[in-house]
Amino acid sequence: MEVKSPRGTSDILPGASNVWRRIEQSVAEVMDAFDYQEIRTPIFEHTELFQRGVGETTDIVEKQMYTFEDRGGRSVTLRPEGTAGVVRSYIQHKLYGQGVPQKLWYLQPMFRYERPQAGRNRQFHQFGAEALGSLDPACDVEMIAIPLEVYRRLGITSHRVLLNSIGCPECRPAYRDALRLYFKDKLDQLCPACQGRYDRNPLRILDCKIEGCRSAAAGAPAGAEFLCDECQEHFAEVRSLLDALDISYTVDGRLVRGLDYYTKTVFEVVTDALGAQDALAAGGRYDGLAESLGGPKTPAVGFGAGMERAFLMLQAASVEPIQERPPGVFVVSLGTAAREKAVQLAWQLRRAGVATTMDYRAGVNEERSMRAQMKSAGKSKAQLTLILGDDELARGVVTVRSMTDGSQREVILGDAAVTVLQQLGGGGESRS
Ligand code: HAM
Repeated sequence: MEVKSPRGTSDILPGASNVWRRIEQSVAEVMDAFDYQEIRTPIFEHTELFQRGVGETTDIVEKQMYTFEDRGGRSVTLRPEGTAGVVRSYIQHKLYGQGVPQKLWYLQPMFRYERPQAGRNRQFHQFGAEALGSLDPACDVEMIAIPLEVYRRLGITSHRVLLNSIGCPECRPAYRDALRLYFKDKLDQLCPACQGRYDRNPLRILDCKIEGCRSAAAGAPAGAEFLCDECQEHFAEVRSLLDALDISYTVDGRLVRGLDYYTKTVFEVVTDALGAQDALAAGGRYDGLAESLGGPKTPAVGFGAGMERAFLMLQAASVEPIQERPPGVFVVSLGTAAREKAVQLAWQLRRAGVATTMDYRAGVNEERSMRAQMKSAGKSKAQLTLILGDDELARGVVTVRSMTDGSQREVILGDAAVTVLQQLGGGGESRS
């Protein structure tokens, strides 16, 4: 039986992995520019972290977690999102002792048991950041500015920012009451899940994608009308800082998020280019999460952005033709003694930072003709080919052939690495 990858997972094949790496590099550069430090947390955590962190009534916890008992009988869960693990780590290692805010970023795989479709996977990857220990609206703005800067550097356009404030434990009860009042005579229009949410968490009704619920929610009161003075002031400052950066946004009074930990600012970066999966990045403030996980009071804000969705955007816009990464040098050899020198030469060049490949045999003694090897060298798109036969070896030389103009010269074997470095422009990483 042929074994295939599990549904909702994908292989990042050569070619695509170059684009992927480019996204990773842009993310790392932008995080450096904003002075965030990378953090890597385990792929699995104790299940209760997500139950308490993400929230018992969320879709993620109710339906989407990859949860299993390990051999010790502990329930563990593959991380469905990044924030809970980062906050757990912040508390466990008392990172707050090293000064606040702690500005952390990550790029990691996440796991959710969802119905797979374009842009929605069961194993997917997020890059994200969390600023822990500050209520400063400048931190909220960074969480929007960072993904936008990553997209700008990658050439990803056609997205917009939706922004809202969903208040705090002080002012949210009044908003919940107002929503219950509003939905009271519309209960029969709501899906069964939203009917359950009516009592437990009516804000989540606003997040439901089912058409009946959407139309029922169309005239629902907006959260901003119920904000307390502190939340209003905070929201106004976030908006004026966004204005100062010329970041355009739409205040969407009904934007709520599918995770329970949010307070005050919530946002999404959405696009029309990806069909139903329109969120490229999303996040918000979660001032109560650390405390609810047993840590100190820690106002915090963060975002998570889908890597696969950024990748699809690059493909859709054909911004980034799949870049090949040809080697700088291809080594061919004829004869057993020359072959050993060829392996040595490739080793030297690789240690000097020159991407080098060679002709590999199908079997130990199946040497290929010079013609066949040169054909492979041409296919590899290497800039230089080094040719080593028994004859060259006897004379202590190697032939260096430029694959761009076909010119050839012989150099002393011992000088080959230096010559190659010079010819490729001073050495170092020789890939284009
Ligand atoms: P989220 O909205 O659940 O938030 O996910 C953030 C982003 O991850 C989405 O906007 C989307 O781009 C991507 N994403 C989510 N699910 C999938 C999936 N099944 N397949 C592909 N991409 C997906 C969070 O996870 C929060 N932890 C964000 C955050 C960080 N809030 C504060 N700090």
